[in-house]
Amino acid sequence: MRITESVKKLEAYVPGEQPKSKDVVKLNTNENPYPPSPKCADVLKSFDLDRLRRYPDPNFMELRAAIAKANGCTVDNVFVGNGSDEVLAIAAKAFVENDESIGSLDPSYSLYKTLAAIRDVPWAGSPCNEKVKVNGAKLKNVSLFLWTNPNAPTGEWAEPATIAEFAKKFPGVVIVDEAYADFAEGDCLSLALAPKNRNVMVMRTFSKSYSLAGLRVGYCIGPADLIEAMFKVKDSYNVDAVAQAVALAAFKDKAYHRKTVAKVVKTRKAFFKALVKSGWDVLPSASNFVFAKPPAPQTAAGLFAALKARNIFVRYFPGPLTGDRLRITIGTDEQMAILLGALDELVR
Ligand SMILES: Cc1ncc(COP(=O)(O)O)c(C=O)c1O
Repeated sequence: MRITESVKKLEAYVPGEQPKSKDVVKLNTNENPYPPSPKCADVLKSFDLDRLRRYPDPNFMELRAAIAKANGCTVDNVFVGNGSDEVLAIAAKAFVENDESIGSLDPSYSLYKTLAAIRDVPWAGSPCNEKVKVNGAKLKNVSLFLWTNPNAPTGEWAEPATIAEFAKKFPGVVIVDEAYADFAEGDCLSLALAPKNRNVMVMRTFSKSYSLAGLRVGYCIGPADLIEAMFKVKDSYNVDAVAQAVALAAFKDKAYHRKTVAKVVKTRKAFFKALVKSGWDVLPSASNFVFAKPPAPQTAAGLFAALKARNIFVRYFPGPLTGDRLRITIGTDEQMAILLGALDELVR
């Protein structure tokens, strides 16, 4: 039995902890605290089991058509994956040669680095937002750039014009990872659909604003030739029949989606203010989480452990760029009140 050298060296991606107990305040993986649309339950209750006997639609036509219609494009501009993590893995196969690299902001979604390692190509991190320079030595050989907007874990928003300017000069494919864009006030969809931008795609997920992280559905929108390339390398049946049907129901329930997103954003604004009032340094967030530095002498690592001991889970990313902050997912008002109460006792 032989394991490849690159896999032997690989540091696997470490997802946020999923505690078994429901009796915890779980603010560590940017899940939505509200349930998915009730229309999802209707679909599940009435799901014809005979559809499980057969393979699902390999082209997810109904879901694609709904996504295309809502975004003013055609199905040829839409690709769907088993979570946006799969969309990323497919892009890494379709747009990166063996002697090229994958780039992203730094800090950003840490899976990108692992994705490059799995693909056995280098990863190039660029300082965040405005400072990303196409011609910087680091990005020289990069053929796929993953620009998270709003960024994670920082929550910061980059203006679409900044990304457009970058993409114009960048010779490879730019995927704007918009996992959290529904919580922001803008998006880069128009860049992905502008005929002059042959190299920009936006990627979205049902895991965050649609409260469907357990379902595993993500998608991307972009130029038809890039979408076609992704179809060529995907598994035949990468999105199962239940996932296609439930995602479609959630997607169509626009009113519920808007309401849930508005609640999260309202709670984020209130929580942001409360942290600032308590002396935290909080980065402006356009997302469903905040990235915040506690007032000295408290440390992020210390508070992470102390909160966990109280069954309150937040996320801590050690390292020089991220280790002085905690990433805290926005939950319900009640959950944030419990967290603030605990912080009040811990940060004195
Ligand atoms: C920036 C970013 N992109 C993509 C994903 C993956 O989302 P999905 O659940 O659709 O695979 C995440 C998940 O946390 C994320 O933070």
